[in-house]
Amino acid sequence: MRIVLLGAPGSGKGTQSQRLVERHGIPQVSTGDLLRAAVAKGTPLGLKAKEAMAAGRLVADEIVLGMIRERLAEPDTRHGFILDGFPRNLAQARALDALLGEIGQPLDAVVQMEVDYGELSRRISGRRTCSDCGRVVNLLTSPPGEAEREACPKTGKPHRLFQRPDDNEATVTERLKVYEQQTRPLVDYYREQALLHTIDAKGPVAEVEQRLERALAQ
Ligand code: AP5
Repeated sequence: MRIVLLGAPGSGKGTQSQRLVERHGIPQVSTGDLLRAAVAKGTPLGLKAKEAMAAGRLVADEIVLGMIRERLAEPDTRHGFILDGFPRNLAQARALDALLGEIGQPLDAVVQMEVDYGELSRRISGRRTCSDCGRVVNLLTSPPGEAEREACPKTGKPHRLFQRPDDNEATVTERLKVYEQQTRPLVDYYREQALLHTIDAKGPVAEVEQRLERALAQ
């Protein structure tokens, strides 16, 4: 199973990727996570990416494509992968096609996750991440008290929650604009390749998961 999850910031790509990882045993490849790790480590690549991420712009294609090339060369991707947040523009989509063509592993499906603007803003403003285990929760949409009750699997103590620095209002506005201008055109690109499935990604996480599984089974 080689799939792309396509959707605006906050549409649930990361959340649903995690569930697919658990069910299908294939890795999630998130360019956002790879970039955040590089920024946290202060690598040269991270230093280059940091400014664009803080402003809500896309990081340069050559940086992202280099990371994807390296990641897809790792053995755990041989039986499939979930691309979360990549590709993000037409140049990246064409480069991905070329790369997968070279290794004889074309995409099986692209799922577009549709959520309205108001719900995206609500989800992003409530999102918090545990700095120890990376678990993502939501103060507004998760069941009340869930994050507080749960022990962190890394420390055994309560999660230490932080808000992503790019989840502030100004950056989110820019990220949503960038999605409309640069990423949404991929919907037509993949429709023309007969790979596109669109699902309603609003509603409880488990219901969205069922819609996603049904789309992938088609
Ligand atoms: P990235 O990390 O990819 O961020 P994004 O695309 O903006 O997506 P998000 O992580 O915000 O949202 P998501 O769809 O994963 O939602 P989630 O599941 O967390 O990119 C960050 C930056 O890195 C970019 O701005 C750019 O600068 C750079 N970058 C990354 N990739 C790049 C690329 N390919 N090229 C160039 N630059 C790149 O859910 C959101 C919240 O909602 C969570 O709290 C969750 O608990 C909650 N939630 C999820 N599902 C539901 C539901 N069904 N109901 C209620 N709440 C829900």
